[in-house]
Parts: sequence; structure tokens; C-alpha cells
Amino acid sequence: MLLLGRVVVGPDPSGRALELLDAGAVVVEGGRVAWLGPREALPARWSGESGAAGEPACRRVEAPLVTAGLVDAHTHAAWVGSRHAEYAMKLRGEGYEAIAARGGGIVASMRAIEEADVDAIADTLARRLARMASLGVTTVEVKSGYGLRPELERRQLAAIARVAGRADLPRVVPTFLALHALPPEARATAETRAAHVAAAIAMVPEIARARLAAYVDAYVDRNAFTVAEARPLGELARAAGLGVRLHVGQFADVGGAELAAALGAASADHLENVSRQGLDAMARADVAATLLPLASFVLAQRPPDVAAMREAGVRLVVASDANPGTAPSESLPLAMAFAARLYGLTTDEVVLGATAHAARALGLPALGRLSVGAPADLVAWDLPHEDALLEPWGVSRASLVLRDGRPLHAAL
Ligand code: NIG
Ligand code: FE
Repeated sequence: MLLLGRVVVGPDPSGRALELLDAGAVVVEGGRVAWLGPREALPARWSGESGAAGEPACRRVEAPLVTAGLVDAHTHAAWVGSRHAEYAMKLRGEGYEAIAARGGGIVASMRAIEEADVDAIADTLARRLARMASLGVTTVEVKSGYGLRPELERRQLAAIARVAGRADLPRVVPTFLALHALPPEARATAETRAAHVAAAIAMVPEIARARLAAYVDAYVDRNAFTVAEARPLGELARAAGLGVRLHVGQFADVGGAELAAALGAASADHLENVSRQGLDAMARADVAATLLPLASFVLAQRPPDVAAMREAGVRLVVASDANPGTAPSESLPLAMAFAARLYGLTTDEVVLGATAHAARALGLPALGRLSVGAPADLVAWDLPHEDALLEPWGVSRASLVLRDGRPLHAAL
């Protein structure tokens, strides 16, 4: 396949700006990018209307704009059920933490996992990922974390693994969200709490052996888990060969950024409440800062201090946080639009944050950029310019979405 148009190649050598081809060409062969460059330099073997004798003509797609497939580096996409009643409570002014304290929130989603079997969870996730693909997303990080109890976490991870095996959906990077909330039975005393944390940590070696997760995550915040609880989880994950990503500073700065740096985490996410020292520690340890503007919008929060992040020199990632509580959306493009409008990110920061920087933060540095020999995960957009990627809120403008050169979505 030959794609012709304005091509967003990936980051330039500074890593801070986009490299572009105004009139570019991308050749896809055997699931990979076979050639990439200015249209006028396209080798003759691909530029003709028909291929060599006996070969079919190369399919040509003229697209105004071509980018790498979008990479959503933070989702809870394996949820089932609906928390619309809580959303109505939020609209009436109830706080997220207050709803959770009354048995709603994450525990409400745990109840839904309890009621569902692996097939039902996998089916819901697969349909959600197909909708994400239709928006231009070709790689999705998917967390567990709604099982809470070991047997239910295993159920959710098994469902994620089943869907991760499908080539007709976006790539899945599975994360074991080991410490997300306490199940009701663990809330009674300090001992039951400690037993819950210990049981979650004890699952790490088994999950690593069965390759059910590439990363381990913990929600490090007030009304969630402490640095002291999350640290041994992270250390064991690293020792077992898994990466670490953390929910940090969504409501309060309890030292999660410094912990992420000490653990060599791939990413610290949310970051509405983080100190400059925490950001500096992240920058030194090359921990990405994953911004989740849909969640802070739903919670009516002040945006994170993006200027301090830029000064500290952390790489910015933009993700959807797709979940039924704080980010009831499946749309990374919507998160990108909000990152620009609410957080003041530039087009280059948003696009890099949803492509190359996101892929790198998932340990997949060949994705999120277009380069010869890399998997042909790319999107042809019905949009004239990369600035326009930040505008069409609430609709898909992806006309062709390829993963490994094969269409996940086509609306040509
Ligand atoms: O990333 N902060 C914690 N976890 C999710 C919300 C999960 C839920 O409410 O279901 C988040 O915002
Ligand atoms: Fe989250």
C-alpha cells in the first residue's frame, strides 16, 4: 500500500518537535514500513500505477494527513458495567472521594467484575478496543485493578490476555494494577489492610511468570495507598522483570513522584499535585509524565503545572485514562483536544504525547513514529493538518487505521 499526503514522521532529533514531510509518501509492505520520504523521491517500483509484470498494482491512498497510530498509554479499559448513577451524583456536586467512601467508585466496578466471567469481560473489552481503533488508536495500555481480590484480579487479567492475542484489534500492553482500592472486607482494621496489600504484592511473581502483565501499577495518593505500601510492590515487580507505572498526585502529593523515580518507573500519571522536586527526580530518572486531562476535567480540578514539567524537562504523555469513574470516555483524541485547550500543550507536545512519547513510556520505542522497518501502525486522517487533530471533538476523523499494515478501521 502506498499512502500519499502530509506525513507526521515522528519526533525530530531534539525529541520536542515533530518531523514532517509536507508532500510525503509511505510504502507499507509485509506489515512494515518499507519506504518513507518525500513524494518526489519515491522509487519507481512504487510510483507507477501498476506493479511489475504479473504483480497487482500497489493500492494508493491519497490522504490529507498521515500519522503513526495513536498510543493510549493509560486506560482502565477492561471495566464492565456502568456507573452512570455516580456520574449523576457528581453532577449534583458530590465529590469523587466521598462517593468512593460510601462504597461506590472503584468498589462498584469490582462488584461488576464479580458478576462477570472471563468471556463477558473479554467481550466488553474487545468491543471497546474496536471503538478505540475507529478513533485512530493502534496501541492501548489496559490495566486490571477492578478485581481488587486476587481471584478477581486474575479473572480480569485473563480476559485482558485473551483480547491481547487478537490481531484484529489494537495492540494491548497489559498492566497489573495491584493496589487500586481496598475491597470492603479489607477496610475493617490496619491488619486487614496490611493483609490486602501483602496478598496483592504476593501475586507479582506468578503474574510475571505467566506473562499476564508487562507493568505493575499502584494508586499512590491520599485515600488510596501510601509510598510505604507501594514501594515493596514496585521493587518486587522490577526484580521479576516487570516495569512500573504509578498513579501519582491525583488528589494530594504524598511522595509518589519521588517513589516513581526511585523505582525507575516508566511513567507517573495524573500529577495534578506534585512538587518541583518530584518533577526533577522524575526527569533525572527518565520517568515520563502522563497527563490525563479527561479525568481532571470530570473532577473539575486545576490543571497540572505543565510549565514546571517543561522546565524540569520530563517527557509529556497524553492518555485517556478511560474508566467509568473519572474519565467516562474511550477517546484519546478527545484527551488530546483537552490537553491543548485545558492544559495549554502545543500541537507538537500533544501529538508526541499520544504517539512516540507514549510508545516509549510503554517500552515500545519502534511504535508511535514512522520509520523504515517498523510495524506499519498508522492512520490516514480526513484532516488537512496536524493542528486540526486537536479540533474535531467527539467525532472520528480517522479514515484508515492500520495495525501491522492491516486495516483495523476503514471509512474511506
Ligand atoms: O485513574 N485514580 C484512580 N483510578 C482511576 C479511577 C478509577 C475509577 O474511578 O474507577 C483514575 O482516575
Ligand atoms: Fe487511572
